Amino acid sequence: MTTLYTKDDWLAAQIHKDAYRILPSSGLTTSRLSALPSDLSFCYAKVAADETLSVAGLVGSGFRFINAQASLTKDTTEFAGHSADNVRQTRSEDRDAVWNIAYQSFIFDRFHLDQELNQFADRLNASWAVNYYAGNRGTDMLVWEENGKVAGFILLIIQNDLFSIDLIAVDRQFARQGIAYHLVAAAEAKYSHCTRYEVVTQLENNPALQLYSRLGYTVNSIDFILHRHGR
Ligand SMILES: CC(C)(COP(=O)(O)OP(=O)(O)OC[C@H]1O[C@@H](n2cnc3c(N)ncnc32)[C@H](O)[C@@H]1OP(=O)(O)O)[C@@H](O)C(=O)NCCC(=O)NCCS
Repeated sequence: MTTLYTKDDWLAAQIHKDAYRILPSSGLTTSRLSALPSDLSFCYAKVAADETLSVAGLVGSGFRFINAQASLTKDTTEFAGHSADNVRQTRSEDRDAVWNIAYQSFIFDRFHLDQELNQFADRLNASWAVNYYAGNRGTDMLVWEENGKVAGFILLIIQNDLFSIDLIAVDRQFARQGIAYHLVAAAEAKYSHCTRYEVVTQLENNPALQLYSRLGYTVNSIDFILHRHGR
């Protein structure tokens, strides 16, 4: 039988309690989930939206629906024209600006949407972004510089021919000026050798969905995120 859950140490440090990830993404019936200790402080699961048996099993085992995540992909070598004048590779001195933008930007993620984790969510997203500078997350980060100020960033994970956008955010002060659009387009051009381009965002995140749609991404699959806090 496959392992049912694993510890998520990074998340545990962010939310100040033990955190566990449910490993299987299918077959999560209440009977299978009865092997889950009821005193686990926090666990989360991600299952495909059409895995109705697993969704029912998780809900029947005390998990709550948090949100739906859309995986978008783009299998093309046609890239959007863009202006790269303000785009540059991040430098260590950008860390505080990136922290501040990430701290203030995210509202649709599963931590903000979970009332028990909401208090940690701003810091968690900021820590996630600046983890790049410690070499713990992502393979590249580009920033948009506007009059000497970092106005937005994109964190990437490039694995061989796979291009993934891990995080992107733009300072609200500079919203809707095309910065995210040009950051993604510049990143795609930098990694134009890749054969698959992907990003995951929340189905509720209309600005992000619109952005990726304008760049040629289409929804490939939908997953549900469920959380359970210890009883
Ligand atoms: C999503 C986000 C990165 C967009 O940044 P931005 O620089 O303001 O976006 P752009 O100006 O490049 O917009 C490009 C396109 O995206 C779409 N878009 C951007 N913001 C939008 C909004 N608030 N409502 C609807 N569509 C929006 C539009 O199609 C826009 O093109 P248009 O202005 O010609 O109509 C920004 O809103 C943000 O930082 N959000 C919080 C962080 C986040 O949720 N990141 C994505 C998940 S990882």
